[in-house]
This record gives sequence, structure tokens and C-alpha cells, in this order.
Amino acid sequence: MQHAIITGGSSGIGKAIASLLIQQGYSISLIARRPELLEGAKIALEKERINPKQNIYCFSADVANREQITEAVETAIAELGAPDLLITSAGVARPGYFAEMPVDVFEQAIAVNYLGTLYAIKAAIPAMQQQQKGQIVMISSGAALIGLYGYTAYGPSKFALRGLAESLRGELKCFGIGVTIVYPPDTDTPQLAAENKTKPEETKQITGTAEMWQPDKLAAVILQGVEQNKFAIAPGLELTLLNRLHSLLAPVLNWYFDGIVRKVRDS
Ligand SMILES: NC(=O)c1ccc[n+]([C@@H]2O[C@H](COP(=O)([O-])OP(=O)(O)OC[C@H]3O[C@@H](n4cnc5c(N)ncnc54)[C@H](OP(=O)(O)O)[C@@H]3O)[C@@H](O)[C@H]2O)c1
Repeated sequence: MQHAIITGGSSGIGKAIASLLIQQGYSISLIARRPELLEGAKIALEKERINPKQNIYCFSADVANREQITEAVETAIAELGAPDLLITSAGVARPGYFAEMPVDVFEQAIAVNYLGTLYAIKAAIPAMQQQQKGQIVMISSGAALIGLYGYTAYGPSKFALRGLAESLRGELKCFGIGVTIVYPPDTDTPQLAAENKTKPEETKQITGTAEMWQPDKLAAVILQGVEQNKFAIAPGLELTLLNRLHSLLAPVLNWYFDGIVRKVRDS
């Protein structure tokens, strides 16, 4: 039976991916911090199983804590075998003005979004290399395709994932392990709702015209891209163009964004 390990699988995008995978017959290991959310996700997934032999394990762990996430991934592998899919969706986002955000916010973004992903991959690699199989799917962000006003803590942590994915791809290919990086657009999840509470007005206006995605639709696009062995998945026309033509588009977009910021500041 195929096995997917999903960090951040108790909510939002990770949970929507878990739901589609359980319907495809996977056994699932969910990793996140809050046990009540994990339990809720497990109950929902149990109802969607297509085979009673599909296992759903939950591990309460903080991905920013190396010991906790390593133990969770290693236990999941001991129970259900090397993952066919390792999806790193655990993440945090707190927008704000650079000068006003405490340094802790920047440190937490790197600790959770970047190091939390790296620790999970590190813990899974030995078993995946031994089996010479599997796909690592890192959930980055559209905010990693262009630096955005108000995302000085979040954006760089997601840019770092792009660097990791690009550098790691060739190395793991030699072992039959694939790497995919996903740049999701704004998606209707608890994280986005929390972000909106601290988002500067300028950021709201810059990002406000973009289409809001539903997690189940995004999850389907992600899994379709993974099936097609895509290295980068940038859902929707805007992010597809940004992913392909970033260097050409950035000066024009920055000129446009600066105009929005000027308008907000003058009003
Ligand atoms: N929603 C969007 O618009 C959007 C857009 C682009 C990219 N993304 C990225 O997509 C990923 C999923 O976000 P989402 O919108 O689905 O958010 P969400 O609904 O808030 O889910 C976040 C998940 O990550 C877990 N998590 C957070 N911090 C963790 C930590 N330190 N250790 C372990 N688990 C942790 C949460 O559970 P606990 O809090 O219980 O640990 C939860 O399961 C994130 O990496 C996010 O940056 C989201």
C-alpha cells in the first residue's frame, strides 16, 4: 500500500491533499502540533477510505523542533514504510511592516517554513534512498516567485525552499527520488484568515485582485502536477507566467505595485 507523509496535514492545503490521497488508496501519516486538529482530520479521512486496510497515523510534532519532527517521520516510516510521497505543507505566515515586526517573526518563519521542511526531508531521505523511490513535494508560495510588500518575513523563508528544491533535485534524481516545488496562490484556509489580520493595507491591495482558490481544487492541481512529474507547480495563469518569466516581468510588476503603495500612502 502506498504511503504519504504530510506535514501540516491537519488543516488547509495539507488536509485537502490528504483527503484526495486517501481516496486514491494511500495510507497516510499526518504531522502537525495540535492533537485535536489531527484527530479531527483523522476522523474525516477514515470516512473517505476506499479500503479498510488503509492506515491513518497522527503525530503531534513541531516541525521547527528537529528532534520532534525527526522522531515523527522516523516512526511513520517504521510503521508504514518509506514514503511514496513526502509532502511538506506545515507553514506559518505573518505579514507586516518590516520595521514593526519583531525579529522573532523572521526567525520563526525560517525555523518553521524552511528548517521545518529541511528536517522532515532529512529524516525521510535514508529510507527513501534505500527504496530508490518516492517524491518530495515542498509547499512554497506564490510569494516566493516575486518579493511582495509586507512579506519580508514570510517571502524569504519560501524563497529558501525554492533554492533547496533546485539544489536538491539533481542529487536525489540519482537515487530515483523526485522533487517538486509548489507555489500556491491565495487559498481559502485558516492561515490566510490569520494573515489577513496583520496584512498591511498596501499588501491587501496588491494581492486583492488575485483569484482566491479553494483547498480541494488546489490539492487536485498539485497531485495532477506530481503525477506528471513536474518540478515546479504554479497554479493559475498569473503564477504560471510569473514562474516562467519572472526576471522579465518583475520590473513592470514592481512599478505597478509601487503605484498601489503610493496611492494607499497618499490617501
Ligand atoms: N493559504 C494560502 O493562501 C497559502 C498560499 C501560499 C502558500 N501557502 C502555504 O501552504 C502551506 C499550508 O498552509 P495552509 O494555508 O493550508 O495553512 P493552515 O490551514 O493554517 O494549515 C497549516 C498546517 O501546518 C501546521 N503547522 C503550522 N506550524 C507548524 C509547526 N511549527 N509544526 C508542525 N505543524 C505546523 C498546522 O497545524 P498546527 O498549527 O496544529 O501545528 C496546520 O496543519 C503553508 O506552508 C503555507 O505557507 C498557503
